[in-house]
Amino acid sequence: MAVALLVAAGRGERLGADGPKAFVMLAGRPMLEWSLDALRAVAAIERIIVAIPEGFDAPAGTVGVAGGTERSHSVRAALAAAGDGPADQPILVHDAARPLLTPAIVTATLDALARTGADAVVAAAPVVDTIKRVHADAPGLHVEATLQRHALWAVQTPQVFRRDALERALALPDDVLAAATDDAGIVEQTGGRVHLVESPRENLKVTTPVDLRLAALILEERC
Ligand code: CTP
Ligand code: MG
Repeated sequence: MAVALLVAAGRGERLGADGPKAFVMLAGRPMLEWSLDALRAVAAIERIIVAIPEGFDAPAGTVGVAGGTERSHSVRAALAAAGDGPADQPILVHDAARPLLTPAIVTATLDALARTGADAVVAAAPVVDTIKRVHADAPGLHVEATLQRHALWAVQTPQVFRRDALERALALPDDVLAAATDDAGIVEQTGGRVHLVESPRENLKVTTPVDLRLAALILEERC
């Protein structure tokens, strides 16, 4: 049986709301409730641990844990609160900032982990924009290269892991974890094999106010 870790302990600075992003009201409910619905609907998930900001309560039917300084620290805290389990237990990590999660996306990632025998499987969508890399230090946003779009995928959550691979990755030094923007990335750094599974672009991340408006429109359309 799988365990799900929902990270919801960020401050949401780029959204700029009054309180933490995961608790901002979205289509009539706190944002994190939307992804919890999708997680609760999947029978293979036996337990849900939520990393929450200080002063907030764990949602009904979940185990709450205080978040850490950076996202990876919150993932580590949530995994610690999940207790022990077999080395090959699937651990799913999801951002509360992706409220458009569906049970189908959750199931697709869990199925792909079992099928491929990979250390991690990540939901991702093909990149639709042409991406140019600029010279980091030169003035004037000087273009260094145009990347081959067909080989580029934008990664999302959920990301699912074999428990032993995620534990090994989260044992990296604190500063390495602090620099990580993606859990699968630290699994790659520790030699793990990571696969992607295609997921709709609609599983967007709420980062700025325009994302919140878009998410509200889609959720209202779904209801
Ligand atoms: N997160 C977390 N603990 C942290 C930082 C982030 O649990 N210390 C969670 C957020 O709650 C969010 C997810 O990680 O669900 C993705 O992070 P992001 O979109 O960056 O959210 P915030 O860090 O809250 O936003 P910002 O970076 O704009 O402050
Ligand atoms: Mg952040």
